[in-house]
Amino acid sequence: MRIVLVGPPGAGKGTQAAFLAKNLSIPHISTGDLFRANISQGTELGKQAKAYMDAGNLVPDEVTIGMARDRMAQPDAQNGFLLDGFPRNVSQAEALDTALASDGVKLDAVLDLEVPEDEVVKRIAGRRICRNDSAHVFHVTYSAPATEGVCDVCGGDLYQRDDDSEETVRKRLEVYHTQTEPIIDHYRAQGLLVTISALGKVDEVTERAMEALQTDR
Ligand code: AP5
Ligand code: ZN
Repeated sequence: MRIVLVGPPGAGKGTQAAFLAKNLSIPHISTGDLFRANISQGTELGKQAKAYMDAGNLVPDEVTIGMARDRMAQPDAQNGFLLDGFPRNVSQAEALDTALASDGVKLDAVLDLEVPEDEVVKRIAGRRICRNDSAHVFHVTYSAPATEGVCDVCGGDLYQRDDDSEETVRKRLEVYHTQTEPIIDHYRAQGLLVTISALGKVDEVTERAMEALQTDR
């Protein structure tokens, strides 16, 4: 399956993507994680992306689209993928449409995670991520690690993302409303949109998502 996951910052895209990708045996491709990996490795791409991310703005399309296409061209993504955080504006959605059409393939669904803004703010404020693997995501109250500051999975240090400050989160939400939400209409018009509530326990949301993805559109 080829799936796009959309939703505001903190909706739980990364959390759900980890489970959905495993259930569906497809790679989880997160442009945010790819940027963060480049930043921690000190690459030129990471240097270009960091200032935009720290300010809560989108990284320019010239950088982002090429990076996403390179990742989708990897062997493990040839039979499907779960995109998380890409596309994030209409021109990225159009670039993806063009790339898929030139490969003779199509998206199966666009899963839209709906969460009220006050809940999103709580989820982001309490989020802690493992330095060893960005897929190891915790929350200080909703899914606290057994030992404060230590990853339950690998023992790595947990940290708070630079762009999770209250001011930057406000900016990211504004960018989501103005630049990312328009892709919802783009995909609704293509008959691909599936909207679910992302409230409730993590496994309840995963179950809801799996059911929604298995429904004919
Ligand atoms: P990115 O990394 O994509 O961030 P985001 O979209 O803002 O999303 P988040 O990672 O903040 O949240 P999430 O929805 O994954 O939530 P999570 O699962 O962690 O992008 C960061 C930046 O990179 C952008 O601002 C931009 O600068 C740049 N960028 C990335 N892609 C780009 C693109 N295509 N174009 C241009 N720029 C791009 O969950 C949040 C918390 O809630 C966690 O603590 C989790 O444990 C908890 N939680 C999750 N589910 C539940 C639940 N059901 N109940 C209770 N708690 C829960
Ligand atoms: Zn870890």
